[in-house]
Amino acid sequence: MELTAIAAVARNGVIGSANDIPWHLPEDWKRFKAVTKGTSLIMGRRTFDGIGKPLPGRASIVLTRDPDGAEQAFRAQHPGALAPGTSAVWVSTLDEALAVADPQLPVYIGGGAEVYKLAWPRLTRLDITEVDAEPEGDAFFPAIDPEVWVEESREPRTGFDFVIYVRR
Ligand SMILES: NC(=O)c1ccc[n+]([C@@H]2O[C@H](COP(=O)([O-])OP(=O)(O)OC[C@H]3O[C@@H](n4cnc5c(N)ncnc54)[C@H](OP(=O)(O)O)[C@@H]3O)[C@@H](O)[C@H]2O)c1
Repeated sequence: MELTAIAAVARNGVIGSANDIPWHLPEDWKRFKAVTKGTSLIMGRRTFDGIGKPLPGRASIVLTRDPDGAEQAFRAQHPGALAPGTSAVWVSTLDEALAVADPQLPVYIGGGAEVYKLAWPRLTRLDITEVDAEPEGDAFFPAIDPEVWVEESREPRTGFDFVIYVRR
């Protein structure tokens, strides 16, 4: 099965800082929403809580060791976020996340650091925004080993490139 990680990654591997993203790239966020529309989007509980709502038009699948507790806490902290037209489920293993994903739809891994690492051996494709910066951070993307991953395409922009890698 095709399994794609989508991430914006700085030159030093940083993807996050203090549960936030240490840059503001509206074009990248817009592309993230467009690419993951109509997919199953698997995320860690911290990333999902950080976004604060399920994005419409896709199935959000949230990984947590405590699905009931995480769902209850999310509902309490974000009243009204689970609006009609949105979908979110909380699961406790990656296998369960893949099992609840609609087999007709592409599946994306949307982070963060713990969940990229967890899914890493099973990923077949990486959709990376390579950000031309070296910010301080506390969340990192795994190293993309050129012996394992081949660059399939690259679209340069100002300050970042959209790059697709596929597993050799
Ligand atoms: N630049 C990007 O593209 C990008 C994308 C996404 C996120 N980020 C950044 O990444 C950072 C968040 O990453 P993170 O690593 O701290 O958190 P995360 O991966 O989003 O979520 C971690 C949580 O996932 C759950 N989890 C992890 N491993 C699990 C397992 N084996 N089984 C079941 N549940 C598991 C746990 O939830 P419980 O604690 O509920 O058990 C854990 O606390 C933030 O700074 C965010 O902004 C950046």
